[in-house]
Amino acid sequence: MGKKVRKAVLPVAGLGTRVLPGAKTTPKNLLNVVDRPILSYVVAEARAAGIEHLIFITGRGQGVIEDYFDHHVELETQLAAKGKTDILAQVRRDVGQPGEMSFIRQMAPLGLGHAIWCARDVIGDEPFAVMLPDMLMAAKRAPLAQAVDAYEKVGGNIIVVEPAPEGETHKYGIVALEKQDGRLNRMTGMVEKPPLGTEPSNLFISGRYILQPEIFGILQTQGRGAGGEIQLTDAMAGLMTTQDFHALEYEGTTFDCGDKIGLLRANVAFALARPDIADEARAAIKALL
Ligand code: G1P
Repeated sequence: MGKKVRKAVLPVAGLGTRVLPGAKTTPKNLLNVVDRPILSYVVAEARAAGIEHLIFITGRGQGVIEDYFDHHVELETQLAAKGKTDILAQVRRDVGQPGEMSFIRQMAPLGLGHAIWCARDVIGDEPFAVMLPDMLMAAKRAPLAQAVDAYEKVGGNIIVVEPAPEGETHKYGIVALEKQDGRLNRMTGMVEKPPLGTEPSNLFISGRYILQPEIFGILQTQGRGAGGEIQLTDAMAGLMTTQDFHALEYEGTTFDCGDKIGLLRANVAFALARPDIADEARAAIKALL
């Protein structure tokens, strides 16, 4: 078996256009789902999958993400003095261990492929995970851990996918499979945002990947694709000419938190799944309907 997956890249530089003005001064991935920022859940998912080093690709004005994962000495002192140990533990849960997190400025919004390429020197010569944090996933076993399980079985590159809602394949990267048998299938192709009617399947790339470092050489010279952006999907399609790719249909539910309805659905679903507030949340939602 190949090298262990130890590092994850989290591109967070997006403008959050669909959740403005909320995302104007608060990066969209720091918006709350119930009482935790989206990134808090995604970092917990990464740690549950055995990730030892998180690399955030940020944009201007997002220094606050780095602050979120640092200690807040005054706050922690106050919570400790007041005996609020539960909240203190929750605040500290997200603080990075020394050396666990790196932050890289993307400098220019040239697309997802370019964001990932910015991590090349920090990744070096080993397989790595990519997590698109605005795709928040609820699952019994951490979705990235499911991808690592698949990687340990078949090696190569793994892309987590799921069926797209009817008529929405043109919004995503879509994969083509050799044949569909169970949840883990060898891929034969992929395309970014295919015009409706041309999609090779209904399975969309839902935001968790395990990739081999050879992707960086391809990204280095990758031209612009769909939407005038340097697309990760195009680089992966290039890498597929020399390496294996498998698509994994993971077990769980995805919430697109870059979108207002997705963010709302996530808030409702995560509140209903929280033992401490589920009853109150259900009653509040019922009363509104
Ligand atoms: C990106 C990827 C796309 C994927 C999607 C999931 O697109 O390029 O392949 O399906 O994320 O959210 P974006 O949403 O950045 O346009």
